[in-house]
Amino acid sequence: MNVIFLGPPGAGKGTQAQQVCKELNIPQISTGDILRRAIKEQTPTGIEAKRYIDQGQLVPDEVVIAIVKERLAMDDCKNGYILDGFPRTVPQAEALAQFADIDAVVELDVPDDHLVQRLSGRRVCLNCGATYHVSRKQDNVCDNCSHELIQRDDDKPETVLSRLEVYHKQTAPLVEFYQNRNVLKKIDGSQSVDAIFAQILESLRG
Ligand code: AP5
Repeated sequence: MNVIFLGPPGAGKGTQAQQVCKELNIPQISTGDILRRAIKEQTPTGIEAKRYIDQGQLVPDEVVIAIVKERLAMDDCKNGYILDGFPRTVPQAEALAQFADIDAVVELDVPDDHLVQRLSGRRVCLNCGATYHVSRKQDNVCDNCSHELIQRDDDKPETVLSRLEVYHKQTAPLVEFYQNRNVLKKIDGSQSVDAIFAQILESLRG
């Protein structure tokens, strides 16, 4: 099953994608994680992407489209995948349609004020991509791989606000794009992590 997780920054795409991928035994393809890895390794793509990410802006379409096209051609994607954070613009969605068949798009709907609170308390593992919230984590160590957790630079309040603005302008039109293709499944993302997980599985299996 080929699935897209769509939603604003902090909606819980990464949190849910991680659990659903484990349950369905398919890979999670997060363009944010791929770009952050490229930044850490200081590759030419990473150096270019950093300029945009630090300002809460989107990385140019052609850069992320090339990354995803290459990633989806890998063997582990043959039985399905979850795209977490891609596409994010109509041109990205149109490009994706040229090289992938999408079965479902899960939209996580969360009000903006919840998002700011979630992102300011988020801690991430740069090694495996796991995500936590300070209110539900006793220590500063990843449960999966024991690496230290950090706060992302783009989770600073002023950058969070520009990311939300970018989402409403550039990514929200994808809701209608996928509604028109009859693949959109809207989930209330302000519920508990477990309740959302159960609803996503039900919507994908139903
Ligand atoms: P990316 O890493 O994709 O960031 P994002 O879409 O802004 O999403 P986030 O990772 O911030 O949030 P999330 O929805 O995954 O929420 P999470 O599960 O972590 O992209 C970063 C940057 O890369 C972009 O700004 C852009 O510059 C660039 N980029 C990436 N893809 C691109 C593309 N396709 N095109 C162009 N540029 C691209 O949860 C957030 C917090 O809330 C956590 O602390 C979590 O523990 C907590 N939480 C989760 N669920 C719940 C819940 N149900 N209740 C309470 N708390 C919860």
